[in-house]
Amino acid sequence: MKLLEATLQNIKSAADILKSGGLVAFPTETVYGLGADGFNEIAVSKIFEVKKRPTFNPLILHISSFEMLSEIASYSSDKIKILTDKFWPGPLTLILRKKDIVPYIVTAGLETVAVRMPGNSVALELINKLGRPIAAPSANSFSQLSPTKAEHVIKQIGNKVDLILDGGKCNIGVESTIIEITDNYNYLLRPGGIPVEDIENLIGPLIIKNSFKNNPNSPGQLNIHYAPNIPIKFYDQDVLEKYKHLRLGGIFFNRVQNNEYFSLTKILSKTSDLNEAASNLFSSLHFMELENLDLIFIESIEEKGLGIAIMDRVRKAVNKYI
Ligand code: TXA
Ligand code: MG
Repeated sequence: MKLLEATLQNIKSAADILKSGGLVAFPTETVYGLGADGFNEIAVSKIFEVKKRPTFNPLILHISSFEMLSEIASYSSDKIKILTDKFWPGPLTLILRKKDIVPYIVTAGLETVAVRMPGNSVALELINKLGRPIAAPSANSFSQLSPTKAEHVIKQIGNKVDLILDGGKCNIGVESTIIEITDNYNYLLRPGGIPVEDIENLIGPLIIKNSFKNNPNSPGQLNIHYAPNIPIKFYDQDVLEKYKHLRLGGIFFNRVQNNEYFSLTKILSKTSDLNEAASNLFSSLHFMELENLDLIFIESIEEKGLGIAIMDRVRKAVNKYI
């Protein structure tokens, strides 16, 4: 583990680590983030591994400019501009429609992406130097408190990140407020650093989406997940015969089995690399969705390390069709 004071020179080194696919813990005005290059799927998968999240939660993309915003997301509501003019850079996260450039591992398969421009000069400079958005959750282990000082990060995940940039204490100390605006309603997904009243004064009433737990010990776990719009089952070679008249898709861990039954197959990682498998999971499901199949079979994998999060998501998708 490396801990460096957030000088300009060290921020540049941190950006180089991100460019080469590494993980950097960095300060924001809310809490420390565990950052990866937001366009590098393997790097993003490492975030989940380090946090030991049992599931893939969608991540926030941190941006440093409005050009970056238009590169990754689109929106139609004027309210978005009103909010960003007033609160960015700052502790406000907006849920927007993602553009293709955003990998599905960042959004956990969703078509929306969470975006914020942090109000912290170290964070902004780091994003600038990388030249791409940084995907980052809070830099704590799963179910532990969010870190507001570099030493909290060291304690929880210090030996698992390539670099911790020490930018002192976070001045807000709670996570960002998360807002989603649809044609008809304004939703509050997570209360946070910007008071709800300040937002309501600008854009009208907020409706609480009650899928989050407003509990400081179990931070914003939203119960949203992606399931393909084609039925999906766990792969079981004994039932293939029964379905052989259908157009089947097969998603396998490291090698295709019983290829003759499948119209289309995908391998998550030929080398059995869980990071690679995680980074390919949602994109494989989306790919299959486009292909006019009747049923997708997906192989289960060992629930170890990232395999736990992969299987959590797969099970949720499969359960939708039981
Ligand atoms: O202040 C913060 O927001 C900190 C700093 C590091 O920026 N980040 C943070 O990230 O709190 P995280 O991953 O701990 O929380 C992000 C929350 C999660 O609850 C996630 O479910 C939600 O944002 N989220 C992300 N993308 C979403 C989406 N497309 N739709 C709905 N919720 C989303
Ligand atoms: Mg968190």
